[in-house]
Amino acid sequence: MNPKHHVEPLITEEEIQTKITELAKQIAQDYAGRELVIIGVLHGGAVLLSDLGRALWRVGMKRVYKDYIGISSYGSSLESSGEAIVTKELKNPVENRDVLIVEDIVDTGRSMTATIAMIKKKMPASIATMALLSKPSRREVEVKLDYVGFEIPNKFVVGYDLDYEELYRTMPDIGVVVFE
Ligand code: IMP
Ligand code: MG
Repeated sequence: MNPKHHVEPLITEEEIQTKITELAKQIAQDYAGRELVIIGVLHGGAVLLSDLGRALWRVGMKRVYKDYIGISSYGSSLESSGEAIVTKELKNPVENRDVLIVEDIVDTGRSMTATIAMIKKKMPASIATMALLSKPSRREVEVKLDYVGFEIPNKFVVGYDLDYEELYRTMPDIGVVVFE
């Protein structure tokens, strides 16, 4: 079970919301006059998707559809297994629609790469990617991120739906796990 550890603050609730509003403004500009399907990658990312959806609404982008795809590549360990399986399919078809894949964090890049490949098969008009957090120093596969919230160092972070052994998803801000 959870070895002895504590969590140190990294990004506050307010900083997260400010960044999401900034990204929403950029997205609203980039997709002006168009509809968009925002797709959250479960598990984790659900909180981000609902915050992003509402931020888009506030900045005037209201023709937005929200869906989820379930991808599992981590199990309950800190290291990626490199294998991805679909644990939940999209609810609605995305053929000929503009799609934005929304990830809480891009680490090795494997989950995002697998997600892009799965969505591509559904023949959308376009695919863009967003990650609230990115750890560039951990990248194992190159992946193009169109919208990035924060680049962070190689630390294990929790909160805002990111978990350590399923804990801390409900923490509203983001912190670093420090083992004692
Ligand atoms: P990747 O495939 O290695 O890019 O990993 C992406 C997934 O791993 C994320 O969607 C998270 O679920 C998980 N992950 C990666 N880094 C962290 C972290 O620092 N904290 C919590 N989960 C993480
Ligand atoms: Mg994720």
